[in-house]
Amino acid sequence: MKIQEEIKGYLERYPDRRGALLPALYIAQRKAGWLSQEALEAVSEALDLPKATVRGVATFYAMYRQRPMGRHLIQLCTNVACMIFGAERLVDLLKERYGLEPGGTTDDGRFSLVIMECIGACDRAPAMLVDTDFHPGLTEEKIESILEGYE
Ligand code: FES
Repeated sequence: MKIQEEIKGYLERYPDRRGALLPALYIAQRKAGWLSQEALEAVSEALDLPKATVRGVATFYAMYRQRPMGRHLIQLCTNVACMIFGAERLVDLLKERYGLEPGGTTDDGRFSLVIMECIGACDRAPAMLVDTDFHPGLTEEKIESILEGYE
């Protein structure tokens, strides 16, 4: 199904076209893993909103990806609570073990890494999301075991 058709199927759930913009962007991103210029134009067309409005919202929120990413997105928190409990060691481990730099993607396209400021799990630090899966209480051993589960 084309992006425009799928988005139009959601329109009746929202009071107006602008209200459907966030889910429409999510739908478009789900198709290719990121929001290309073509995807933004498809959203603009489907909602009949200016391209600048669509791009402005897409670039404002960190959950929307502006470039191609790996098959799985690791969002690792390194803010204070997570830092105290060893998040920086985990960043080093991802570099050493997977060649994965913050903001980068593994050579095999398996993972991309984004450093987060806080994912609201300070009481279970350090924590990360892999795609939409939440993983708290990370250790070096645990993070390797978790990532083995993602092809
Ligand atoms: S500081 Fe890491 S989840 Fe809040």
